[in-house]
Amino acid sequence: MRRVKILGCGSAYYAGQIGAQMIEELARIPADAEPASEFRHRNPVVDPDTLYVAVSQSGETYDTLAAVQELKRKGARVLGVVNVVGSAVARETDGGIYLHAGPEVSVVSTKCFTNTAVALALLALHLGRVRDLSVADGRRILAGLRRLPEQIGQVLEQEEGIAELAAGLARARSAMFVGRVRGYPVAREAAQKLKEVSYVHAEAYPASELKHGPLALIEPEVPTVAVVPDDELLDKNRATLEEIAARGGRILAVAHRVQETAEHTVVVPRNEPELDPVLLGVPLQLLAYHTALALGRDVDRPRNLAKSVTVD
Ligand code: G6P
Repeated sequence: MRRVKILGCGSAYYAGQIGAQMIEELARIPADAEPASEFRHRNPVVDPDTLYVAVSQSGETYDTLAAVQELKRKGARVLGVVNVVGSAVARETDGGIYLHAGPEVSVVSTKCFTNTAVALALLALHLGRVRDLSVADGRRILAGLRRLPEQIGQVLEQEEGIAELAAGLARARSAMFVGRVRGYPVAREAAQKLKEVSYVHAEAYPASELKHGPLALIEPEVPTVAVVPDDELLDKNRATLEEIAARGGRILAVAHRVQETAEHTVVVPRNEPELDPVLLGVPLQLLAYHTALALGRDVDRPRNLAKSVTVD
């Protein structure tokens, strides 16, 4: 195959964006993610040399299923990354990966988001190893994956501190989430989590795009949550933090080390750079959760939302 296209809705789409980046990095195959809900309506050009991957926790999301059906109609090869065994997406795809994450009861996707990113990392690793990824790099990524459970445990130990930060965020009328490249889908998912469970307005932007518009919104009442991994873009991200601080913006960084420009930093353990998005997302789930609790929201059943959107 010459390209990979990942399709999903909501958190499945954001996890797909993380996966697409991993596939490009590890397998050097052009890859991207698109909302299944958009894809199915735009009469897409379906390419026989593209591998399509449909991501869905429930396997019953109508938009994702309709995208799969459109692809099959046009002769494409489609894999599923699905949690619920025997679900519609699992049945209609040519093969795929089951997450086996256990039942996810809460409307908002949490463990399935993380598990999807990991499953797509395994797919990226496989596609890499049948191409140019070296044995050494393959082993490095596998070792990183094996470290994840313990490192997620280390992030969860910081829950009390994150709850205190959430109490501050609960007073904001709007929040900005920024990240660059690997950090960007993490920022998007985090903004989605915050708005769906706490109803605090949140917007996610690539950190690089901030100065092309949304910087105008920055003021003390609009805090910024910045995803700042210690990767090759660290200096660029720090420059963005300076720009935000210079406009009076308060910053909460989720980073591998304390960021001086930020009012607070949640320090996340380092893994392999390609796998960093998996860990960086976890404290942001806790942040949304505790912001919702601070505001007395029902975190499991947010208003107006359904766990599984099985209608058009
Ligand atoms: C709904 C849920 C979201 C979820 C999306 C996709 O909109 O509220 O939390 O991410 O569906 O669900 P799926 O089951 O396809 O992953």
